[in-house]
Amino acid sequence: MALHDNVGVGDFVLLDRITKDSFIDNLEKRFKAGRIYTYIGEVCVSVNPYRQMPIYGQDKVNEYKGRELFERAPHIFAIADSAYRSMRTQGKDTCIMISGESGAGKTEASKIIMRYIAAVTNVNGHQEVERVKNVLIQSNCVLEAFGNAATCRNNNSSRFGKYMDIQFDWKGDPIGGQIENYLLEKSRVVQQQKNERNFHAFYQLISDDGQLRQRDLQKSPGAYFYTNQGGVSKADGINDKNDYNTVNSALKLLGLHDAEINTAWDLVAGILHLGNVTLSADGEGAKIAHSSRSSVEAVAKLLQIKSSEITKALCERAIAAGGNVVQKTLTSGQAMYAKDALAKAVYERLFNWLVQRINEAIKPGDMNGYKGTVIGVLDIYGFEILDTNSFEQCCINYCNEKLQQLFIALRGPQELAHGRPIPITTVPGTEELNDTGPEIQAPPDELGGGRYQLSTNNPFAIFENPEYHANEIPFPNPPSWGPVSSVVTKMMRWIKLKLGWSS
Ligand SMILES: Nc1ncnc2c1ncn2[C@@H]1O[C@H](COP(=O)(O)OP(=O)(O)OP(=O)(O)O)[C@@H](O)[C@H]1O
Ligand SMILES: [Mg+2]
Repeated sequence: MALHDNVGVGDFVLLDRITKDSFIDNLEKRFKAGRIYTYIGEVCVSVNPYRQMPIYGQDKVNEYKGRELFERAPHIFAIADSAYRSMRTQGKDTCIMISGESGAGKTEASKIIMRYIAAVTNVNGHQEVERVKNVLIQSNCVLEAFGNAATCRNNNSSRFGKYMDIQFDWKGDPIGGQIENYLLEKSRVVQQQKNERNFHAFYQLISDDGQLRQRDLQKSPGAYFYTNQGGVSKADGINDKNDYNTVNSALKLLGLHDAEINTAWDLVAGILHLGNVTLSADGEGAKIAHSSRSSVEAVAKLLQIKSSEITKALCERAIAAGGNVVQKTLTSGQAMYAKDALAKAVYERLFNWLVQRINEAIKPGDMNGYKGTVIGVLDIYGFEILDTNSFEQCCINYCNEKLQQLFIALRGPQELAHGRPIPITTVPGTEELNDTGPEIQAPPDELGGGRYQLSTNNPFAIFENPEYHANEIPFPNPPSWGPVSSVVTKMMRWIKLKLGWSS
């Protein structure tokens, strides 16, 4: 059996004694011998090699194609193949969940899975299938440009969660897909910790000489408050200029017109200028500092709105009271929050819009009522505990904990190889969203600084808290959070249904 590949054990359930030390020893022994994958039953534990390994070529694809999990040495290709085969032969929707701390290799794993699926499908070379595969793969660089950043732990760290459905036709060829994104770490747009960068897109834009003059930009990230707080402008292994060109080519492939691509970059530039606007006290109210007038003009030009409207949006807020809407001036401190809120909201909408455009490009065509089957891949962003944790990081850590818990519960009922079931400590019931978990306090500039109740079953239920809408946020049109929870909620429902925990 291939699980005995002569280096430790290929499946942890074959360990004689399961202790933390024997687990780590086995992992280490295998890693030192170049075996980065080890199973726990159907789960694949992966150790980041931080170097290119010669294990993802066509020869390996051929080795794993159509094989059972236990027939070959542990590999992520085997997981992808297993999902693909049960989707194809049994018409089952399947889902691959990837979890781990930041920098563990989750996003790389999701890309390896996509590449494997691309390699084993469309043997007849259909043009449309080829286009879909291309768009699915190329969309990664756009999502990474706008949703990834260099952090202390990972130079290409995902700062958003992604759930991607790949849809297949009856022949098992990919004909489309859908991406759902959630929890973009918006706070990074306006604040970065020491040695961390903002989202890659900002540095990509100012790396290109051709873009500078038309957007009144300077080439140096140090010139902008929203890109200079971390004190680093370059990230190892990342070439912003090349990536800028790659992203533009991918945007074209997705079907975006030149004018749309320009608008997207205008918004990025507008946010950079907005970050340099300072507000000073004006009696009890706030006013734009004299030195910032040119920045406001640049924002107005790039966002295509009047500078007087920007000034109003930053220095005043509208309050609805007793059926009337009244304008109230903000203090300079509140106005600075309003500025950051505006930058975050514009960036988030830009990101959502890009995801929507990708989804339009991969929307499956009409299949005469046939629904097709899907493989879902969930790539969340990892656990991280920083000196100052953003509200989103808190939420994502919570979400990771919940997924971990769900995962343990999911594995629980299955018998281990030696016949001992894992005791189930937490089995989520059927209560769904109404149960309550711990309460957390949002920072003052996030969600109005209120207290929020986390749901035990739904990590994202906090966003559905009506308290948020009741809070006054100094932004004229607060972003609608909407049902961002739908992905995980849907997944949890689906998994529970499969396990017979709910009907
Ligand atoms: N299988 C692999 N082979 C070679 N290098 C890898 C592999 N997996 C990860 N890496 C390296 O580790 C880096 C971090 O991986 P990745 O971005 O996938 O982490 P992540 O788990 O998605 O982290 P985050 O939660 O911060 O998004 C990659 O940029 C790459 O250099
Ligand atoms: Mg990632």
